[in-house]
Amino acid sequence: MSIIEVLPEVNEVLRKFELPKEVGFGKIMAPIMIEADYADGKWGPLQLKAYGPITLDPTAKVLHYAQEIFEGLKAYKTDGNGPFLFRPDENAKRFNASARRMAMPDLPIEYFVEGSKTITSYCSEFIPPNSGETLYIRPFMFATEGSLGIKPSEKFKFLIIASPSGDYFKSGSVTVGIERDAVRATPGGVGMAKTGGNYAASLLSANQAIAKNCQQILWLDAVNHSRIEEMSGMNFFAVIDGKLVTPELTETILAGITRKSILEIAQSEGFEVIEKELLIEEVIEGIKSGKCTEAFACGTAAIITPINALQESDDTQYKLQNPEGPVAAKLRKTLLDIQEGRKEGPEGWVVKINPPV
Ligand code: COI
Repeated sequence: MSIIEVLPEVNEVLRKFELPKEVGFGKIMAPIMIEADYADGKWGPLQLKAYGPITLDPTAKVLHYAQEIFEGLKAYKTDGNGPFLFRPDENAKRFNASARRMAMPDLPIEYFVEGSKTITSYCSEFIPPNSGETLYIRPFMFATEGSLGIKPSEKFKFLIIASPSGDYFKSGSVTVGIERDAVRATPGGVGMAKTGGNYAASLLSANQAIAKNCQQILWLDAVNHSRIEEMSGMNFFAVIDGKLVTPELTETILAGITRKSILEIAQSEGFEVIEKELLIEEVIEGIKSGKCTEAFACGTAAIITPINALQESDDTQYKLQNPEGPVAAKLRKTLLDIQEGRKEGPEGWVVKINPPV
């Protein structure tokens, strides 16, 4: 028996929904959502209902103290295959790791996984069919208790919404601004958690970067401003001396599921992979000397997006020889082939979604 109660309105809103030709990324929302509330130390029922506004008390703690976490995962339905979810159990585990850091209750893993499967199943016919297009699924949880005291909320809401989406980046490669001053995360802070505040903290730098024609920011460590960390919503990889190099995970970096998958795929394709303390100067010197031939961003939304140049705030650019380089292209192809069901991946990575019962 399903753990999800399907409300009667669901069929009606699905019947009326029309998928526009141009979807963009995260702009069109599926007409249904999954919801559950937490109170009195336990989770209430999980429901599938019509998508719509939620009512919050103006003192809800999320609005004042940002007690909130989220995840992002995708359902694929390309070439008539699928729909498939990619490693939803990994997102569920990371969700609870974020919850613990933010003093929020664990969510039962089946709420996350069954909820993601169910919304995918009901939205199956709205998943755009071209390679790179997906149903982007956004599970999130936030503090709903109303009162202004700074203490962990005792009430929470969990929602899953879904967006038929195309590519996150319009162009094939990105220019990335090196952020030498502001920092994203500090030792002992919440950098490893997928919590809204980390993204809010990135927006001022994002604005400055956009003004300089950069599409992303590269964050350095908060102590010495020398070690590469991540890119807010994406992890960083470089190809140096033919080896695939990425910063080793620390408490200030979000552990990307795409990052982890790329490391496994690269190893199985015979690349040497190195996770290490990666200094910005090593990458800059590598670009200048020609040792660093490629760099790319990776993430659920970004998939694998080549970096064409790193840029300083004074506009100095370090241009990559090979922005659409062979390593990124090969890894992107294998990753998408697995996610979109053209190639068998390691056991458990790809979960086939059945039609609603
Ligand atoms: C994701 O890749 O799911 C993210 O959280 C990134 C965000 C830029 C959409």
